Amino acid sequence: EKGGFRSFMDKEIHDQPHAVADTLLGRTDTAGHLVLDEIRVDEAVLRRVDKIIVVACGTAAYAGQVAKYAIEHWCRIPVEVELAHEFRYRDPVVDARTLVVAVSQSGETMDTLMAVRHAREQGATVLAIVNTHGSTIPRESDAVLYTHAGPEVAVASTKAFLAQITAAYLLGLYLAQLRGTKYPDEIAEILDDLREIPDKIQAVLDAAGAIREVAVAMKDVPSVLFLGRHVGYPVAMEGALKLKEIAYIHAEGFAAGELKHGPIALIETDQPVFIIVPSPRGRDSLHAKVVSNIQEIRARGARTLVVAEEGDEDVLPFADQVFFVPRTASLLAPLLAVVPLQIFACELASAKGLDVDQPRNLAKSVTVE
Ligand code: F6R
Repeated sequence: EKGGFRSFMDKEIHDQPHAVADTLLGRTDTAGHLVLDEIRVDEAVLRRVDKIIVVACGTAAYAGQVAKYAIEHWCRIPVEVELAHEFRYRDPVVDARTLVVAVSQSGETMDTLMAVRHAREQGATVLAIVNTHGSTIPRESDAVLYTHAGPEVAVASTKAFLAQITAAYLLGLYLAQLRGTKYPDEIAEILDDLREIPDKIQAVLDAAGAIREVAVAMKDVPSVLFLGRHVGYPVAMEGALKLKEIAYIHAEGFAAGELKHGPIALIETDQPVFIIVPSPRGRDSLHAKVVSNIQEIRARGARTLVVAEEGDEDVLPFADQVFFVPRTASLLAPLLAVVPLQIFACELASAKGLDVDQPRNLAKSVTVE
């Protein structure tokens, strides 16, 4: 049932082109308009929404963080992302104009379910982005947008993460269409970019040999750091989480801009650091800033493992290793950039002889608070 793969995680990483394609499938009409009929929420309610709060845990919360950048940009609605277990204990400002988006692979995470209940008690509309049909969170929500990743068996979430990001993008584009914050041809263009993602993920998978080699050679390192900026920040957090979970290696993700505010003190000779580099075609010169971060940490002896867009030669002088991913729109880049990090964690854990599908102390769904 592992389809020739060594682990479910490995199989699920390789299923990701399908997870994204299937989540996109059937959600546009022949004219290219998004039709999310399954969201049975009055359109008037969605037009009135003045704030979105994403509630989720772990990897699902990182999917929410990625979505925040896109939804704010496309819809001009403020988006907060809150860990579900923090949300209801801080007396959050939630009312009838708040859309709460609960993201969960299992649909059974108790922390997330309790956040859903709390939000509804406060009069918010709750939309669930969930992978498991018939689970509890969608039953208790006002609406559900299913991710079509298929069953995820490995404890560490991979394909569900990509499907969650994809579904959240569809939600963002749907809101933009409904509220008129993007022109139809702009939405169509983003959807076209999204439809190209599965083949681009496949290209990353086809190039996995280089990552595997690096992972195997690094199996005894005590700590790995991950840096990212903009949408690369949650990708860095997710890369670190994967490594902690299944390889039991101390790992931390940082916003690259935060480096000089503290974390750079951790850099010493041979400290491995992954850096997720934004597209050189993006705005605000973020690319140049992250490239200079690589230069700074390399000058302090770090071993730099760079994830960059194909053709980005600026990173070459400062990278000990580069993993190139295909070009795409800046906001969609996490769907590609996270894949080398997933493969890295999976290969490193396998090289250590660990059970990557059943890491110690963890369960696939956390049904207690
Ligand atoms: C990470 C992981 C966990 C889950 C989290 C939420 O690989 O598996 O962090 O993402 O427990 O689970 P769901 O999505 O089922 O609510």
